[in-house]
Amino acid sequence: MPNPDIQKTTRPLLTSLVLAGAALGAQSSLAAEIAIACGSGDAADYCPTVAEEWAEKTGHDVKVVSTPNATTEKLSLFQQLLNSQSSDVDVMMIDIVWPGMLSEHLVDLSRYLPDDATDGFFPELIDNNTVDGRLVAMPWYTDAGMLYYRTDLLERHGHEVPETWEELTRIATDIQDAEREAGNDDFWGYTFQGRAYEGLTTNALEWVASHGGGTIIDSDGKVTIDNPQAAAALDRAAGWIGTISPEGTLNHTEEKTRGIFQSGNALFLRNWPYVWALANGEGSEVAGKIGMAPLPHGPEGESASTLGGWNFAVSRYSEHPELATELVAYITARAQQKDHALAMGMNPTIVSLYEDEEVLERNPSMGDLYETLTHGVTRPATVTGDAYARVSNAFFNATHRVLSGELEGAAAVAQMQRQLERIGRRAW
Ligand code: GLC
Repeated sequence: MPNPDIQKTTRPLLTSLVLAGAALGAQSSLAAEIAIACGSGDAADYCPTVAEEWAEKTGHDVKVVSTPNATTEKLSLFQQLLNSQSSDVDVMMIDIVWPGMLSEHLVDLSRYLPDDATDGFFPELIDNNTVDGRLVAMPWYTDAGMLYYRTDLLERHGHEVPETWEELTRIATDIQDAEREAGNDDFWGYTFQGRAYEGLTTNALEWVASHGGGTIIDSDGKVTIDNPQAAAALDRAAGWIGTISPEGTLNHTEEKTRGIFQSGNALFLRNWPYVWALANGEGSEVAGKIGMAPLPHGPEGESASTLGGWNFAVSRYSEHPELATELVAYITARAQQKDHALAMGMNPTIVSLYEDEEVLERNPSMGDLYETLTHGVTRPATVTGDAYARVSNAFFNATHRVLSGELEGAAAVAQMQRQLERIGRRAW
């Protein structure tokens, strides 16, 4: 069933095919069209470029389907497509927290891939994408929450990069006051993702974990969110709204916060590594004036960075599962991951690329990021399996109510504990 919600752009078979001579005669008669759901088509979306490169090389055709910007909305779109067993989309870019939820609708890629196809990838990512012994996605890039800061402003006002949330709050308040006094009324101390969606789950997990409040649900499936450190972490974040962070934060996703920071209107930003190249690129007001550091921690915790990342999967309802798997293998192969790292500073999922000279030369911080990535905090997606979306929704909705001042941290964590235990009794 065609889905009216998705935008499509079709790329015709390339003219280079015509030039490639007789051998291609046979190939082009077998040419198929593979529809691939990429990112939202914004500046950071490299998926169409690589998919089209594959089409050019193989003589097949790709149809790039762009998807909504926010992860939670992307998930709804994919669930809608998969539940209706639609063959409209063959290949999908899926979030690291989705394999458990979508696996029944996805092809076991190992059926078509050579035995050594996953060699060299981070084993944790391959495990993450293997559900009941089936490899349902190949890792493309990995993500970790980072603190971006303005080097020029810290220097001008005599401050260091904060290591604790308390320091961040104090420095943000101080510099925000000074910048406003100097005439920039739109200036804010800290911008982060506070909308009720998956992005808030990733932020709030960082607050909770870095206060020593655990990871919502532990790796044995025990719900751990009802504790004083978690409550304090949420209360601290609520205190930022309207003081060092705009009220609009309650509706902000990654791109909105990047915009605020990039236009020079924030001292600190919490975001993913993709921001680095864009904020230092053309049209950015802050190019050359920014730094990146681990996120701060609370009094009883250590810096915690939520692990994110994207993978490619093939729909079980695809009419070309083998070819679609070939496209997935192409996009996630070493050479293409290297291009992605060079062009956009994205973090590869192949270990050896963190030692690649060209990659390190272009992104000197890639080596440090490796540390952050390998020590990242994972969301409880594997342990909660197909109930993860309900878990995350409960967590981000209650957190959002704390941010908007409707609920105290302690009441929110107690309520979440009950709700998550109820979900867990049936689901895991
Ligand atoms: C990033 C992460 C992804 C996460 C999302 C939340 O895209 O890679 O894992 O779910 O942000 O907004």
